[in-house]
Amino acid sequence: MSVARRRVAILISGRGSNMRALVERARAPDFPAEIALVLSNRPDAAGLAFAREAGIACAALDHKIYAGREQFERSMQAMLEIHRIELICLAGFMRLLTPWFIGQWSGRMINVHPALLPSYRGLRTHERALADGVKIHGCTVHFVVPAMDEGPIIAQAAVPALDDDTPETLAARVLEQEHKIYPAALEWLAAGVLRVEGNRVVRVGAPGATEALRNPSC
Ligand code: GAR
Repeated sequence: MSVARRRVAILISGRGSNMRALVERARAPDFPAEIALVLSNRPDAAGLAFAREAGIACAALDHKIYAGREQFERSMQAMLEIHRIELICLAGFMRLLTPWFIGQWSGRMINVHPALLPSYRGLRTHERALADGVKIHGCTVHFVVPAMDEGPIIAQAAVPALDDDTPETLAARVLEQEHKIYPAALEWLAAGVLRVEGNRVVRVGAPGATEALRNPSC
């Protein structure tokens, strides 16, 4: 008997390379989630073209035309309900969300961040990490909670920061890892194998994805 796949929305604001990694991984017939909707807060987000071509339902809700954050989010919420969305992946979605919206999706919304949280919350993470002279940098997938770039950590991957790195070369090395850990984290969430204990996420059995998380530098 086949198990129903969880319906996922991906929220983007730009390029959408993480969205693409999720869409491609979800094409596997045994993946426990399907990408049912891509939502952007920017009508010109480059990622929308890929989603359209992939035959995924897409919507652009331009946050600038709404009177405030909550009106914008109520519109997103309506769209998510119309599409019977069960889980949300933030993938380069660059709008702060209100506690109201986050509360609607508690335990069901995850984010990818380009740093090893809790270090380097916020923006320009690669530039700041290089300025601090770190030797190890990386990325994190975590549950979304009302505080920005906080929330129980589901997966992380580390990369070396090299002497001749620029923010761009380091970003590219990190992004490659984002594309591995994000689909793995979604697979675990959708399969129901994640248990949150305080601020820790424990995996209680894992389908497939462990290999993708093995960090070659460790
Ligand atoms: C990614 O590096 C993602 O980690 C980052 O934006 C980029 C989006 O790229 N997200 C954040 O900084 C959120 N705090 P993409 O559109 O190609 O996936």
